[in-house]
Amino acid sequence: MSKPKVLATRPLFPSARKLLESEFEVEYWTSPDRIPRAELLNRVADKDALVCLLTERVDSELLAAAPKLRIAASVSVGHDNIDLEACTQRNVVATHTPGVLDDTTADFAWALLMAVARRVLEGDAWIRAGGWPGWDLDQLCGGDAWGKTLGIIGFGRIGRGVARRAYGFNMRVLYNDAVRAPVNVEEQLRAEHVDRDKLLRDSDFVTLHVPLLPDTQHLITKDNLAKMKPTAYLINTSRGQVVDEAALAEALEQRKIAGAALDVYENEPAVHPALVSRKDVVLTPHIASASIDTRTKMAVMAANNVVALFQGKRPPNALNADALGLK
Ligand code: DGY
Repeated sequence: MSKPKVLATRPLFPSARKLLESEFEVEYWTSPDRIPRAELLNRVADKDALVCLLTERVDSELLAAAPKLRIAASVSVGHDNIDLEACTQRNVVATHTPGVLDDTTADFAWALLMAVARRVLEGDAWIRAGGWPGWDLDQLCGGDAWGKTLGIIGFGRIGRGVARRAYGFNMRVLYNDAVRAPVNVEEQLRAEHVDRDKLLRDSDFVTLHVPLLPDTQHLITKDNLAKMKPTAYLINTSRGQVVDEAALAEALEQRKIAGAALDVYENEPAVHPALVSRKDVVLTPHIASASIDTRTKMAVMAANNVVALFQGKRPPNALNADALGLK
């Protein structure tokens, strides 16, 4: 009997490849360029499973082009690239990779926080450009993190990981989330639930950890930026569309806030040009989860979901398992 066919839109990592290749006939997209949409639709046409990235839309167009498809496994925790309703209608299981990237992403939010507050990139650029004259009293003075107030918007696994790290910096931690955390979690993380306005007003650092949903689209608007302290910093490792980039650029220009550190953008890979030229902005290319260990775990997790389905089991990270009535 022929093996089920899988399309993986990246070569993945060896451990994930091994898992897939033991059970399936696997086709990989190996070009360094992202798979063009037309190519994706063409290649997925005869596949039983798709392992994709957050940059590939799994929508009704793709599902119509892939009549045999049983599962779309995204190598990402965020699943705003997947139209869940369309998948459910077509009886396609959609999966993601929760849990394995929380600490790596929380670490990176801290890397961004420190980089923007302590002007790490400006210092690096200065030395490389050859103009640094040696130590002086008032060079590149930035903001302190220790002892300050950290405001976390979105208090899921990653937001809580960011809070846990704040303990060592002796910070006051505020958080805002639609769902309040259990008291024991608040106590353990020394985190105080506040409304969004208070968080914006009181925080020296505002860090975003919400999923992209209709409610969180442009959660950070011109008005919200105006509520922040002029000495405060904004950090975003969630999704670019959570921040109105044009409003952020304007707020920085008008010194409404002191700086921003961004790993994600409204229209990736494009970045608002007014942000690119600013020294008070740290920009990284959507790499918050990009440690070798974590990206490997994400790929293995996606592969395991595909394997589980074809072994007649419920994929452990299915997003629409209940809607599909999977046992
Ligand atoms: C995700 O998984 O959603 C991140 O954005 C990439 O790790």
